[in-house]
Amino acid sequence: MRLYVNIDHVATIREARRTDEPDPVRAAVLAELGGAEGITVHLREDRRHIQDRDLRLLMATCRSGVNLEVAAEPEVTQIACEARPMQVTLVPERREEVTTEGGLDLSRPETTERVGEAVERLREHGIRVSLFVDPDPAALEASREMGVEAVELHTGEYANARDDEGRARQLARLHRGARLGRELGLAVHAGHGLTYENVIPVAALAEIEEVNIGHSIVSRAVLVGLERAVREMVQLLRQAPARVKEPGRWIPPLGY
Ligand code: PXP
Repeated sequence: MRLYVNIDHVATIREARRTDEPDPVRAAVLAELGGAEGITVHLREDRRHIQDRDLRLLMATCRSGVNLEVAAEPEVTQIACEARPMQVTLVPERREEVTTEGGLDLSRPETTERVGEAVERLREHGIRVSLFVDPDPAALEASREMGVEAVELHTGEYANARDDEGRARQLARLHRGARLGRELGLAVHAGHGLTYENVIPVAALAEIEEVNIGHSIVSRAVLVGLERAVREMVQLLRQAPARVKEPGRWIPPLGY
């Protein structure tokens, strides 16, 4: 299980004052020291947090892989092609949203066309492509049709489930999605809304090889420091398979 740390929110704090601190590039160094195997940033079309400058410097300084999230739009796809990160994750984007709200809707022909064009351009530049999708069979099969290497399963509904029954249902859905993704030959990642409290059952699913976690780690880092916050998450991910007896079955959050 690889931990990719999303450092967008470090830039969110900086942009709250439109100043030059805290610097997400320094945060990336600390996350790597804490054990992150990759750094995730979302270059949004409205540039509300990560800026073009951040991506340039991250590409020059990161020792791990950079996973760049962008919408399937020509302007940001072009930037991604020039930056050549280790991986690009295509995500849906709406200007009014507070954060990414759901997976790509690949049942809509307009979306499939835009995503298809972006995938083609990125692959021409030798970039590994992942699609952020809901853990449903149609989305996974459509992703395979697109010829991408990976999918990132949207864990938001699991994270937002209100009771144990709902969480168990969403976890089982993630497990089915992860299994199908592997059967289709896709690498399976997961992310959105994962926290120190809810990550263990997801991290115990053997089919998932990478998680992207941002808000919870940056929130904890405000209190305990970024390197320690990342180290603690890495420990949880390592312990997950041993802590879960039956993968795909919800267990109550454990202390860490
Ligand atoms: N994965 C994707 C595709 C995302 O858009 C985000 C949020 O930017 C994350 C993972 C990280 O989500 P969170 O900040 O809730 O951990």
